Amino acid sequence: MNVIETIKQRRVVHNFRPDPVPDDVLYKIIDAARWAPSPFNTQPWEFIIIRNSGTLKKLAKCAPTTECNAPMAIAVVILPITARYPFHQQVGEPEHAGAMAVQNIMLAAWEMGIGTAWATIEKDKVKQILNIPEEFDVLTVIPMGYPMEEPPTHEEDDRLPVKDLMNFEEFTGVSDSRILVY
Ligand SMILES: Cc1cc2nc3c(=O)[nH]c(=O)nc-3n(C[C@H](O)[C@H](O)[C@H](O)COP(=O)(O)O)c2cc1C
Repeated sequence: MNVIETIKQRRVVHNFRPDPVPDDVLYKIIDAARWAPSPFNTQPWEFIIIRNSGTLKKLAKCAPTTECNAPMAIAVVILPITARYPFHQQVGEPEHAGAMAVQNIMLAAWEMGIGTAWATIEKDKVKQILNIPEEFDVLTVIPMGYPMEEPPTHEEDDRLPVKDLMNFEEFTGVSDSRILVY
């Protein structure tokens, strides 16, 4: 699969087979994550691999909008870069970089037949469960595993049309198709 095909074919997955993701496959996924861009190549991320079913259950309670049965998850921890790059910290770039690493994880996983989701989490509770120090952020927890069934491919109208997203030279307003979504 080339990059554009993988981008277009990836789907959020909620229903997983119980089979574990092998370590060598997981390694390749984290390897893809670490090649994401970051401010001054600070790489302000750590990844916590969670396979313990008790911990997964506790984490599920911190993700009220994510119903899933994944056999594992990856928590993405964001490290501050305040000391060397206060401006970049102030505008939120460690988190932006972390989100780019998440996209790499999702695309690499998908290419190897593995599904993911982005779980929106109650961060303070997740930090407590995973023993993450106060000064670090936790961006998301990514449920991961082999999809129970092949997720349906996207319909073209799953996304807004390209022409409705483009502005030239300056912001020229939003098209009617966007009124519903912001
Ligand atoms: C920042 C962000 C937060 C999201 N939060 C959740 C969530 O809490 N639960 C969930 O099941 N999916 C969540 N998603 C996944 C989206 O629902 C999903 O990507 C979107 O519906 C488009 O579907 P697709 O990924 O299959 O194209 C989130 C995605 C992003 C980028």
